[in-house]
Order: sequence, then C-alpha cells, then structure tokens
Amino acid sequence: MPYVLGVDVGTTRTAAAVCRLGGAGRGEPEVVGLGGPGGGVASTLQLTPDGAFAVGEPGDPRWTATGFGRRVGDTVPFVLGPDSGGERCAAEELTALMVMWVADQVAAREGERPQHVVLAHPPGWGPHAKGLAHRALRSVGVEASLVPEPVAAAENHAFTRSFAGSLGVFSLGSHAFSASVVGRGFELVHAVEGVDQAAGVDFDDAVFDHVRTALGRELADLDPDDPRTRGLLARLRRDCEAAKRMLSGAVETSIPVHLPSGPVEVPITRARFEDLIRPHVEQAVSVFERVASAGVEMTVLVGGSARIPLVAASVPGRVVLEAAPETSVVKGAALAARKLVVGPDAEPDPIETSVMVGDDDPLLRFPVGGLEASPDAEFTAPPPRPPVDITPLDLPERRTVKRVVRGLVPTGGRRARDDEDGR
Ligand SMILES: Nc1ncnc2c1ncn2[C@@H]1O[C@H](COP(=O)(O)OP(=O)(O)OP(=O)(O)O)[C@@H](O)[C@H]1O
Ligand SMILES: [Mg+2]
Repeated sequence: MPYVLGVDVGTTRTAAAVCRLGGAGRGEPEVVGLGGPGGGVASTLQLTPDGAFAVGEPGDPRWTATGFGRRVGDTVPFVLGPDSGGERCAAEELTALMVMWVADQVAAREGERPQHVVLAHPPGWGPHAKGLAHRALRSVGVEASLVPEPVAAAENHAFTRSFAGSLGVFSLGSHAFSASVVGRGFELVHAVEGVDQAAGVDFDDAVFDHVRTALGRELADLDPDDPRTRGLLARLRRDCEAAKRMLSGAVETSIPVHLPSGPVEVPITRARFEDLIRPHVEQAVSVFERVASAGVEMTVLVGGSARIPLVAASVPGRVVLEAAPETSVVKGAALAARKLVVGPDAEPDPIETSVMVGDDDPLLRFPVGGLEASPDAEFTAPPPRPPVDITPLDLPERRTVKRVVRGLVPTGGRRARDDEDGR
C-alpha cells in the first residue's frame, strides 16, 4: 500500500514512522522498527576502509560520526578515518546518508518506495542549513521536505487532539533542548534552542557523579590508563543511563559497579536524582516560560527526557505527554508528509483520546508509564490510545552483519585509505 515516511535524525537515535495512504482506518502513524534501541537505530555512521558506511554500529571513534543531525550548517566537517589523514564529511552529507539508509530499509520492508519523505529538523535551522540539507538529500536520491521538529510535534498532537490557540512544545532529548510555540496554522511562531542547556546525557552524568561520590577513593584510585578501568567506566556510564531511565518508573534503584575488588551496588532514589537535576530542569522551564510568555493553550512534551516525572511536573499550564514522547516528532513528520501528499482537507478529524494531560496542579498529572494518578476533567476522555505498533524489522543480527550503505563516498572526498594499523 502506498505510504509516506517521516524521519527524525536525533543526536542519539534515528527514528522512522510511516503513514499509509488509503486502506481502512485513520492512517495512524506507525513507528518503524529499525533494529536499535527504542525502535530506532543509533545515529552513528562508521566509515569503513572501502568507503562505505556501517549504520548504527558502535565503533572506533576515529572512524565513527555521531551527532551530525544537529551540526548541519556547521562549516567544520567531520574527519573520519586514520590519524594520518581522514575523510572529510559534512554533517549534511552524513545526515542525508542516514535518511537514505532509513528510506531503503523501509522500502525493502514495504516493497515500494515512499510517496514522500519528511525530515524533521531542529527549529533553529535557517535557509542556509535547510538549503544544505536539501542539496545533500537530493544528491543521495531522496526527495524530502523539511519540517521543524516542533511543527512535527504539533502535527502529531493534532492527530489526536484539536487545538484552537497556540501550542507550546517543550523538547528535551539526549543532547538538545528547545522551547517553541506553534500557531494554529502549524506555523512556528517562536523557538529557542538551549545552547548550554543540560539534557539527557547530562542527567546521566549526574547519576555518574552520585556513584563517584558514593564510592570515593574506591573509584578515584583506579588507574585511568588501565584498559580494564576504561572498560569499567564505559559500562558504568551505560548503567547510569539505565538507572536514570529506571527512575522514571520506580522510586529507587541501584547502579552496579564492577570494581576490581568485586561488584558493588550503589543505591539511588528518585528524590536524590531529582535534587541533582532540578537546577537544569528549572533552567529549561524558565526558558520555556519566556518563549511562551504570550500564553499557550497547552504544551506538549517531546523527547526521551520528557519521560522524567520531574520534567512533566515542572512545566506550567496544561501539559500533554505521550507514553513514548521520543516518537512524537517522527510520527508528526510522517503525518506532515501525508498532509503534503493528500492535502490538508483530506486529513481525518482528530479523535479526543491520546495522551496524558495535566493542568496546573502537578499532582494531577500522570506519572509516565502509569495511569494511577488522581482523576482530572481532562482524563474523562477515552483512555489513551494503545502503544504504537513497533514492528520488528527483519534485519540481520547487529554485530554479525554490518548494515552498510554500499558504494557511497562522501561527495567531493577521496575514498578512505586503508588505515596504517591494518583496520
Ligand atoms: N524512561 C526514561 N527516563 C528518562 N530518560 C529517558 C527515558 N527513556 C529515554 N530517556 C532518555 O532520552 C534520551 C533520548 O531521547 P531522544 O531519543 O528524544 O533523543 P535524540 O532525538 O536522539 O536526541 P536529541 O533530540 O537531543 O538530538 C536519552 O538521554 C535517554 O537516556
Ligand atoms: Mg530528538
């Protein structure tokens, strides 16, 4: 069945969603499984010595690009490859390659190419960044429209809930924060991207610092040059991130630390975690309050870090939070793509279900992942729509077969040379 595709190239995770054109039902956007965390794929491109890119594979940092989706327009390219002289890759080329890879994966699964592609982009992109992205996408054979992330979030919101005034969008992902207002015509009225604003990785650091403080010398005295210490710290970072996620649904957890003297567990409560991140959350909220000072009808929270209960409890006014806020933008991108193809008049009317809504009293808000909060007028509506269907993609196992964009060499670049150390 014909379909359109939305893509969100986040700093950590790239996600895809499709909307079918025709068939029964309202054509709800469906998040497409790409084989990685949370249904997406890690936003990493590893240049291989033959000039192809492996997608979503952890790899040698010298050969691996991350964070390119938010560096489009940056004049400093990524330099990938051997220390003796790497391949220069512009952020827009890498972003376009990622979109192309996603489009190919989805096309292989659907048995046909999408009718249209929409790439969601940071709200701060101006004509220069958009022009670069368009050119790069065209050069890899992808005809795509660009939609600002907050507008995509508004499209997704409007699928389930109508809004008559303006909509606030509070976005907190792994690295990026933005506060925006979207008008009823889906125009971006105002947007601010937090340059130094803490986001998900900084919250991981807060948990890490908690562990460091708890263990004192036991951790501090480890030899930083010992590869085992590096392995221990890398694993600890991952465990801190996992503990942070756990604390969105539980009031306490512990972080395992595999010290050379034996494993230990460092407990952490949600209250302690909230104390650690509160200044960052308050700063983001104050930016949002300035951006939305003219008033908004309601505010949608998007991005994985919006799952943190303190975040939902701190944003003022009526707040809407989906069960998986890290997918709101990509689903909205797919909806925007459908609107571009079929026209706004063919859009179905919103159904007043969805999502979790609170009002000014934080106690009335749903904690993420649970629906046991106090009743609220907003909650008398039908129950939240069921979780999106994350269909696993039939791909080879990661780490055994590399998913490679074959034959692609960044434009204007030479092919990567073989590394001296024989990679
Ligand atoms: N349950 C959870 N509780 C707290 N944080 C979470 C939870 N689930 C995911 N996260 C965090 O959300 C972040 C990922 O969010 P998201 O996928 O929206 O980011 P991204 O789009 O890749 O990056 P960005 O938008 O910042 O460029 C990570 O920091 C992750 O740890
Ligand atoms: Mg994001």
